[in-house]
Amino acid sequence: MRSLAAAAAAALLLSAALSPGTTAQEPERDDNGAEGIPVTDQTVIDACQRCHAVDDDGLMSRVSFMRKTPEGWQQSIRRMVTLNEAELDPETARAIVRYLSDKHGVAPEELRPGRFEVERRLIDWSYEADEDVEDTCSQCHSMGRVITQRRTRDEWKLLMAMHRGYYPLSDTQGFRRFGPPRPGATDSRHPMDKAVAHLSGVFPLKTDEWTSWSATMRPPRVAGTWALKGYEPGMGPIYGTVEIAAGADATSFTSTARYTYARSGEGVERSGRSIVYTGYQWRGRSFEDGDDETELREVMMVERGWGEINGRWFAGAYDEFGPDVALLRADGPVLLGLHPVSLKSGTSGTVTVHGVNMGVGLGVGDVDFGPGVEVARVVKSESHMLSVKVTASEDAVPGARDVFLAGRPVPGQLTVYEKIDRIAVTPEWGMARLGGGAFPKGYVQFEAVAYSDGPDGKPETGDDLELGHVDVTWSMEEYSAVFDDDDIKYVGSLDEDGLFMPALDGPNTDRTGQRNNVGDVWVVGTWSGADGEELRGRAHLIVTVPLYMRWEPWRVMELPGRPTIGGDRDRGGAR
Ligand code: HEC
Ligand code: HEC
Repeated sequence: MRSLAAAAAAALLLSAALSPGTTAQEPERDDNGAEGIPVTDQTVIDACQRCHAVDDDGLMSRVSFMRKTPEGWQQSIRRMVTLNEAELDPETARAIVRYLSDKHGVAPEELRPGRFEVERRLIDWSYEADEDVEDTCSQCHSMGRVITQRRTRDEWKLLMAMHRGYYPLSDTQGFRRFGPPRPGATDSRHPMDKAVAHLSGVFPLKTDEWTSWSATMRPPRVAGTWALKGYEPGMGPIYGTVEIAAGADATSFTSTARYTYARSGEGVERSGRSIVYTGYQWRGRSFEDGDDETELREVMMVERGWGEINGRWFAGAYDEFGPDVALLRADGPVLLGLHPVSLKSGTSGTVTVHGVNMGVGLGVGDVDFGPGVEVARVVKSESHMLSVKVTASEDAVPGARDVFLAGRPVPGQLTVYEKIDRIAVTPEWGMARLGGGAFPKGYVQFEAVAYSDGPDGKPETGDDLELGHVDVTWSMEEYSAVFDDDDIKYVGSLDEDGLFMPALDGPNTDRTGQRNNVGDVWVVGTWSGADGEELRGRAHLIVTVPLYMRWEPWRVMELPGRPTIGGDRDRGGAR
């Protein structure tokens, strides 16, 4: 971490901003006349006005001219404490994050395109609105951090000054022109000027979305029973319920989730606490039996109408584990899905319909799988599941069938197929990070999905049928990029469930050039049919160095739903 002396020196560069220890600066109206958002909360005023003056209209310098997510506010406030010498106890810091997220927040429609950032998804994403700005701003952090904020033009400019002041490398890495211009480029502006012009145009402080959200925003009344459905890589679909109860105030909640993994039948119970910011941003943590090792952070959106809450629960040093989830209001019966989702023609199997308040004692006639699929008998009927024995006739037309229970549609479909023609491994490519020494490991979970070529008998055409998860045998093969490529010996190993476990970080004296255990390999899933036939699918795996710098490394305060990095590291990505 940088020293205080360096921080002070950096702050001197921020001529347009503030420097610690100097008198508070008057808030300035933005050069294009934008009005700020008054700060009316005494806790914020008391904690911040030493450096951020408040004018007669209640406008506070800097703070009144930007809007952010709870994570965004948390990051700025952490910086105030660690680099700018603001003094705050965690309690006050949390109260301030809460106030600012509500009053200087982002609307649901504004967050949606960047929600992968707060949900910590490791995805391939590109910012299509302006390639140059993406080049300039995504070299050190995700573009998600940028598009989840709104600011006046002056504030976008001051943000650039902050980067230059504290992180002078940004000049050589991103902000100053380097390399030849793009072929045919006509725009000769400095990359930073381009970025400021673009960002203040598309992400201004005042927007219609925020104006209209501010008018309707209130704490959502989400206490009650919710049906839960989700999908956890490596574990498959989950079905169950979440009981949400009111907490200490209108935006705090406690919750108990009870769910079953459809594949294994394993049951889980988790209890958690959460806060809903800005009327819709759920941030929580939950545990099994209060056991720290089982912590999942919960980042979800309460949808308008309060009928659905969805997002992601996650853990791991790189947030790589955990399910995608959706909670649906369960005042009456709710149907959630099916497992398994495919059946071979001419065979029988047990299919379970999962839901909540489905009623008990359902009969063969209550469930309808469509033409060619006969329900033979009910195996089990409980209020949260109905298992039935079904047979797909030899001549059932291949294809997906809508399923109905007592006339109501069950989400998902049952696909009848003649044979499995190919196996696909997901994700198509993955990135793991070496660890276990100085840094935590970053894992990748692979899964195999079966496909049938469909009626036309040709692979990868529109009539292909997706048949869902299949069990495969996992192995690795060299991805030959150079002569005598031998990455496979070093990068790590796959377990029998397709979880890739990277090798140790740091130089390896057994390797030529004492290289780290980095490299790339094919991850291969091999499926064996009953008649001994084998099918293979593969994915590309890149094993790289740890993320040495993660810009939230300060153990200063915690939001529900955000860990301290120290805690994360100690766990080394355990799950
Ligand atoms: C001791 C002085 C000091 C105190 C106290 C202080 N700040 Fe700051 N603040 C600064 C300085 C210096 C900057 C400019 C450099 C920077 O952005 O880190 C700044 C910048 C900011 C910014 C702009 C960051 C951005 O995203 O561009 C925000 C927001 C902010 N402060 C919020 C707060 C809040 C909220 C408080 C009260 C909890 C607070 N500050 C208390 C010194 C302070
Ligand atoms: C050289 C690396 C680098 C580049 C290039 C870079 N950033 Fe950053 N950015 C950082 C770091 C480091 C932080 C964390 C600052 C902190 O809180 O200590 C950050 C933080 C931010 C924040 C959050 C600040 C806050 O307090 O809310 C925003 C927004 C942001 N950057 C936008 C941009 C934009 C826009 C660009 C392109 C014009 C850009 N960044 C390019 C390194 C970079």
